[in-house]
Amino acid sequence: MTSTIEVKSKHLEKMTAKSEFEKDVERGLTSQPKRLSSKYFYDDEGSRIFQEIMNMPEYYLTNAEWEILTKQSDAIVERLDFGEEFSVIELGAGDGKKTFELLAYLKGQDLDVHYRPIDISGEAIKHLEKNLRLKLPNLKIQPLVGDYFKVLSELPSRKKPALFLFLGSNIGNYEKDGAMKLMQTFGKYLQSGDKMLVGFDIVKNPRTILSAYDDSQGITRRFNLNLLKRMNRELGMDFDLDKFDFYPFYNPNNGEVRSCIVSLEKQCVNGFEFEENELIHTELSKKYTLEEIADLAKQSGFRFIENFLDSQKLFADSLWEKV
Ligand code: AVI
Repeated sequence: MTSTIEVKSKHLEKMTAKSEFEKDVERGLTSQPKRLSSKYFYDDEGSRIFQEIMNMPEYYLTNAEWEILTKQSDAIVERLDFGEEFSVIELGAGDGKKTFELLAYLKGQDLDVHYRPIDISGEAIKHLEKNLRLKLPNLKIQPLVGDYFKVLSELPSRKKPALFLFLGSNIGNYEKDGAMKLMQTFGKYLQSGDKMLVGFDIVKNPRTILSAYDDSQGITRRFNLNLLKRMNRELGMDFDLDKFDFYPFYNPNNGEVRSCIVSLEKQCVNGFEFEENELIHTELSKKYTLEEIADLAKQSGFRFIENFLDSQKLFADSLWEKV
């Protein structure tokens, strides 16, 4: 039998146990250089700001990928070579605006698909489902909210092949090793013959790339500083947002955009010391060469099939096969 004291102490343990978020913040703010993970950008407010980013004129990535899926869905589907009913499993579906083009094409061809969008934001998924049920009423859709791997590990086993989508240059937010490990881990949930379509932002004029992150309306700034707001709200911290700025920089030698939050003065927040102009690294947005894409496919255990690029060659959706 469990005593009242035991129950109380269990409850207390639960109340005081540090969340993964809190532990990551502590680790990040005590490392040198300081860092906070961009995976924490996406609370409901962050997801809303990201929608604004995708609509910004400077953020060419969304339109470029939308063009690929609008104009080349037929060519992509031809290269899938499935010839039977299949699932489309989307990792990090967001608002599904681009995927809609592919799904509309599949429905138009009378191809029977089962769409399973996965996203960490419940609000984004609700929005997507409502939109798709309205526009493609006959589509079989099973929205799934949660962490990719948790959701993938809980999916029932499949007899039909699947096309996995990892679009929007999400891969760009991983360091080189992390990107390979991520694709290898995704690979474990694919069966031989399944396909993976991965969105990559391609290296291009450095000013075009920098403007996509250093936007004139300050939306990306708000996106980064929202993380401090989230820490105030969820972890009871006391960041004064007026004492921090946002600074992104691009290195054309390695294709990396690095985003940072900058402390505008020497300050102490909840025991964490910040020097004047000290950087807190938040996000990597890596831009790829076509060669790097093919290498990543190979190193992650996939067979590279084909790159589908938009007309301005800004972006590539790269099709791979699980071997
Ligand atoms: C989600 N991810 C691919 C975006 C990117 O371009 O790295 C997130 C983003 N950060 C600033 N703007 C957009």
